[in-house]
Amino acid sequence: MAGSSATAPQTAGSSDRLWGGGYGEATHPLVLRMNASVSFDRRMWHEDIVGSVAHATMLSECGLLGADDYAAILGGLRAIHADILAGQFAWSEAREDVHMNIEAALRDRIGAAAGRLHTARSRNDQVALDERLWLRRQLAAILERLAGLLEALGRSATEHHDWPMCGYTHLQRAQPVTVGHHLLAHATAFERDAARVVDCLQRQDVNPLGSGALAGTTLAIDRARTTELLGFARPSRNSLDAVGDRDHLAEALFCAALGSTHLSRVGEELVLFTSAEFGYVRLPDAFTTGSSLMPQKKNPDMAELLRAKSGRVLGDLVALLTVLKGLPLAYNKDLQEDKEPLFDGLSTWHDTLEVATPMLAAARWQKATLLGALDRGFLLATDLADALVNAGVPFRTAHEQVAALVAQLAEADKTFRTLGAKAIAQRLTLTEAQVKEVLDVRRSLRLRDVPGGPHPVRVRKEAEGLLERVAELRVQARRWAWPCPAERLLAG
Ligand code: ARG
Repeated sequence: MAGSSATAPQTAGSSDRLWGGGYGEATHPLVLRMNASVSFDRRMWHEDIVGSVAHATMLSECGLLGADDYAAILGGLRAIHADILAGQFAWSEAREDVHMNIEAALRDRIGAAAGRLHTARSRNDQVALDERLWLRRQLAAILERLAGLLEALGRSATEHHDWPMCGYTHLQRAQPVTVGHHLLAHATAFERDAARVVDCLQRQDVNPLGSGALAGTTLAIDRARTTELLGFARPSRNSLDAVGDRDHLAEALFCAALGSTHLSRVGEELVLFTSAEFGYVRLPDAFTTGSSLMPQKKNPDMAELLRAKSGRVLGDLVALLTVLKGLPLAYNKDLQEDKEPLFDGLSTWHDTLEVATPMLAAARWQKATLLGALDRGFLLATDLADALVNAGVPFRTAHEQVAALVAQLAEADKTFRTLGAKAIAQRLTLTEAQVKEVLDVRRSLRLRDVPGGPHPVRVRKEAEGLLERVAELRVQARRWAWPCPAERLLAG
């Protein structure tokens, strides 16, 4: 390649090409702009440099790179890393993407030796590698955020393990649960999100470097060595797949879309529960905003955004899958379009998790309002029917009798409490003592003593178990975030 470019006739305009020869004319400026991805893929600058450190180290160990050139390359990469970190790197659209910006900057800095870095490597395996390294770091950060959210929920559930509240179906008051039980329901979904992230991290733990453009290389490289330097579990098994595979990105975006969907359900509940109509929760001012017009307003904007952001993340997943659909093997430029949805989806998920955590920790549940709603909602109607069943009445009959009573009370704007145990007992052929017992919500909760049920002691134990698992999750998150050997080499 170097030979052909040296002998190629120099045509006017061919000088804007970073490398290669044989072009008859300059690239059209609009092509340059459309082709360039540096405005967004520079986000992987750290990963790109780490990948190059691993690659150069392997090349030098395999005798494909002399000691002096290796030292110059390593020194140059370190200097570029420091420049970018300090915000002193001049990114150039003409240099197309993050890979070519960094390689060209290396050439500016150390001269011809830089041309040896790309030995036995293509941008196709390079970008595949950078994305896996970026995804690993981002998913590890998301695991930390999920652990934080689960901890906040676990603590709040402990605090509210025995606070009765209405449980809902169809958003109609249904049966009593506790605030702790309700919070742990959301936590259960978030724990599944965390498990999916770990699963995704494990499956994507594969080193694509060494796959070349599509068919490996004729040079005697050592893929096991880069695998080790980059902290991957194993090298990829098929070079065509390795450069064209974006499954892990789609999986990660699915995790993000579902995780954001879970957050949207929490957001929606906070919107409802903080409204005057419910009044179950108050959010501190730090998490609400005022209205520019109406002086009395406190808007739950953050909760609304939790609700809305899931739409955008779902869009990112759909965008990526649509790019992938029907692509022939192996690399196609279409794959450059994977990055914006990937970055957007995972950053959005990360940031929503980050804001949801302190907001949920600061939510103040309103005990009196929660109890009042239980009373007006006839939440112990099923318990009354159950008491009749215990007294020998067939369940369908019991259901009818209680339903008729509730309908009458609702019509008269009364509750079980205002009618009184004595009157209820007469209507339902129960004793007054039996009815009094049934109408005690705390007793009702204690009777719901089944695994997974809202019995306050069970709820407290579940919250404790959750907090223990959070500690394990943090260990996992940190394991995935640990710097790989190439990162330590880079740091010097
Ligand atoms: N910027 C490109 C991308 O993100 C890098 C790979 C380019 N490879 C190529 N053969 N043009 O997909």
